Amino acid sequence: MNNVAAKDYLINRFDDITRETLLDLEKTQRDFWNISRQTAEFLYTQIILNNCKNAIEIGTSNGYSGLWLSKALKVTEGKLTTIEYYPKRQDIAVENFKKCGTFDIITPVIGDACEILEKIGENEKFDFVFSDANKRQSVEYFKLLDKHIIKGGIFACDNVLSHKEKMQTFIDEINSHPDYENVILNLPAGLAFARKIR
Ligand SMILES: C[S@@+](CC[C@H](N)C(=O)[O-])C[C@H]1O[C@@H](n2cnc3c(N)ncnc32)[C@H](O)[C@@H]1O
Repeated sequence: MNNVAAKDYLINRFDDITRETLLDLEKTQRDFWNISRQTAEFLYTQIILNNCKNAIEIGTSNGYSGLWLSKALKVTEGKLTTIEYYPKRQDIAVENFKKCGTFDIITPVIGDACEILEKIGENEKFDFVFSDANKRQSVEYFKLLDKHIIKGGIFACDNVLSHKEKMQTFIDEINSHPDYENVILNLPAGLAFARKIR
């Protein structure tokens, strides 16, 4: 397999509409602050390998990452909640989810992430969190979600290298937390990838 084929191997396995939608979204990646394809492929693979069933994303934007997450959750028969501050941005995401056939497993939520996370019911438990909204607030997202993450669950957070200064409080918090094992992966923006071990 040559390099071009290898780069496109995973995306080429999707149906035509999903592949074309993802490729289209990659053209405006910088305008919507989307994650890189490499990060998306990594998260997709991890959801399937870990058989994650209940995921939450903070920072929907136009749905690029949400599409990858929800395609993986279709494989595991899971579901996704995704939070976005700006309704217009999430409207675009919803259209993309509908077009690509994953909207039936997605609950889109509009509003400030901290306010929404504070209101999550006691019994709601997640096995996969993807944090990609306000960088300085990442530590608050982590603290608010900790009690909802099951043992073995994953907390992934993008931009820990590209926005190192803004993310330092979060990095220090998760690295020193006795219940989590965190690695920082050298993916394009830097991905913190932590597993809850107890
Ligand atoms: C980096 S973009 C998300 C990109 C998306 N995860 C992707 O890769 O396709 C961050 C998004 O978080 C949203 N956001 C920022 N602060 C937020 C907050 N406090 N509550 C909810 N959403 C927020 C922004 O409006 C923006 O659309």
